[in-house]
Amino acid sequence: MRLTDDEQAMLDGRDGPAVQRAMDLLLRYGRALGAERLVETNNVVASISATTPFMRDYARQRGGMDGVFSEFSLDSDDVVPIPRVRAFTTHVQLGFDPGNAALMGVDEQTVRFYQQGEAYITGLGVQATNTCTPYQVGNIPTRGEHCAWMESSAVIYCNSVIGARTNTEGRESVGAAMLTGRIPYWGYHLDENRRGTHHIQLAVPVESTADWGLLGYWIGEQVQDRVPVVEGIGKLPNLARLKHFGASASSSGGVEMYHLVGVTPEAPSVAQAFGGNYPVAQLRYGERERRDAWEKLNHTGRDTQVDYVMLGCPHYTIEQIWEAARLLEGRKVHADCELWIFTPRAIKSLADRNGYTRIIEDAGGHLLTDSCSAMSRAAPKGTRVVALDSAKQAHYLPAILGVQAWFGDLAECIDAACTGRWNGGLS
Ligand code: F3S
Repeated sequence: MRLTDDEQAMLDGRDGPAVQRAMDLLLRYGRALGAERLVETNNVVASISATTPFMRDYARQRGGMDGVFSEFSLDSDDVVPIPRVRAFTTHVQLGFDPGNAALMGVDEQTVRFYQQGEAYITGLGVQATNTCTPYQVGNIPTRGEHCAWMESSAVIYCNSVIGARTNTEGRESVGAAMLTGRIPYWGYHLDENRRGTHHIQLAVPVESTADWGLLGYWIGEQVQDRVPVVEGIGKLPNLARLKHFGASASSSGGVEMYHLVGVTPEAPSVAQAFGGNYPVAQLRYGERERRDAWEKLNHTGRDTQVDYVMLGCPHYTIEQIWEAARLLEGRKVHADCELWIFTPRAIKSLADRNGYTRIIEDAGGHLLTDSCSAMSRAAPKGTRVVALDSAKQAHYLPAILGVQAWFGDLAECIDAACTGRWNGGLS
């Protein structure tokens, strides 16, 4: 790989051993990918902190959190002192909400280790946003900006809706990126890989958030890790719908970028979305395809008695919390059911101030931050049947927790929380 003088100096140890190891890691990674060079980045979404007992024991034996960073982010056998980050970095979600640790079944010792981890990351200059939706809370790159992001639902949003450029990075590459301000120049950093491959024509209206989740789920299965171009969009989707669509497509397939003709920034027209590519397939999304996606997402649902309703995957926007609070106001969560809603901590503080948290709590629900049930592997004790408004969560949770899942829209989920019964269906 070709290096600039600055990159060579980092590799030669000018900025200390941690930066040297970070540069070495990026070179090994870049060579394996066939990248010819690195690209500058000042926008990283990373996981550095740790919440598991395994990491806690590791930190105790190997020099605290610098030991954890050296091993798990820099692939270094030696413990090296970790300097403050060079690139602007925000933290992704974690294993639990420290404000609701007991509710999520997390012990005191783990909470203390978590607090140590949070003090460590903020000490390095990392923003403790703790969310899978960094673009909601202060990390909004500009169109064309080169980024190094983790978390599939955030990556697809970054590429497709914002028009910034990232691949789906891992803990190691983002650890190296935040210390060097570099990431290999390959994949979705390059124009040619951002062009559409599959043409999808909508033959039914796609309007509600659940509709967008179903469409994303079907498209992901069809195109896998390629780049769909969707034509025929009627009503303009809002942030929440695009968030659900991308999360869904990246779960059923490995989609990292899509184009919505007339909506997303690199698709003002079908021709521009394909950028000269000839579509490898022409697909139609109609009633049958929509039903097919719904049936797949609901294939584990058998019992209509619901124990748990989880909302906020990807983390809820303030608009979604507002909607949920309006549907819950004056009602009570059923005695045999639990309602947990997940959002970034910055949005929770807004919900607190606007009175939505109080409405949710008065109804018997909980507004949580930092994590989700799939990430934390936590659900209310004894949960057998879950209701969800997220295709991504419906895709993963039955496998992770061995539960039955129902997928539907927000109103159906709130109704399930208040009646303890699933009455949803495909409208
Ligand atoms: Fe976020 Fe958890 Fe969903 S981390 S995208 S809420 S699986």
